[in-house]
Order: sequence, then structure tokens, then C-alpha cells
Amino acid sequence: MRYGNFDGLRTQLRTWQTRAAASRVSAPLRGPAVPAAELPEGKGLRVQLGEEVVAVFRCNGTTYAVQDRCPHAGASLAEGVVDEMELICPAHGYRFCLRTGRGITDPTLRLKVYPVRREQDAFVVESPPE
Ligand code: FES
Repeated sequence: MRYGNFDGLRTQLRTWQTRAAASRVSAPLRGPAVPAAELPEGKGLRVQLGEEVVAVFRCNGTTYAVQDRCPHAGASLAEGVVDEMELICPAHGYRFCLRTGRGITDPTLRLKVYPVRREQDAFVVESPPE
């Protein structure tokens, strides 16, 4: 590229930006397929999803997945209790909405929520869309 060719430089930068954006779009990360029988109603199960640990619960026949680490002080939420769509942390009793991850006890806290795909008699946790 010739010095002073700013239009050519702009075009080249746009090309690189487009390629970088395209490379960031990728398929969601998938956890292992866990048989539904291993997840009784109201009990939590810890599932590894890449580098992250996810707490999975079944409530009223629907499976929900949230980050395992409590944002208050780091307890494992998979050991928590579910009460009417609210997840109660075993350490200090903070409540979170299982569906949205919203903090109920402390609205400034929020859990990361993961999509759960049902596949025959198993479920698979996936990474949330970016
Ligand atoms: S660690 Fe969860 S409420 Fe304190």
C-alpha cells in the first residue's frame, strides 16, 4: 500500500474488522448430556461447561441452569434449596430467581443464566448467547 493512500487504508481496516467480527460468532459451548433421572425435582446438580461450573435444577418439570458460584460470597448454589422458583443459597440464605437470575434478597446481585436443551431423556446445558 502506497504512503498517503488513506482510502486504501480505510478499506483494509474495514476488511479486518469484518473478518474479526465473523470469527467471534461461534456455536454455543455444550456441556455433557446428563440423564434426566439424575436430576430429581428441587435438587441441584453441578455440571462443568468448559471453564465454568453450572448449577442445574428441575422445578415444576422445567430444568434451569445458573452459575454455581454465589455472587455474594462464593458458596456453591448447587447445594442450595429451591422454593417456589427461588433458589436459596446454602451459605447465607440469599434468594435468586431461578428463571432470570435476578437477586431477590439483594437486587444488585445477579446470576448468569444458561439455556438448557432437552434431548430425549437427558438435558444439555449450553453457553448463553453473547
Ligand atoms: S454466599 Fe450465597 S448468600 Fe452468601
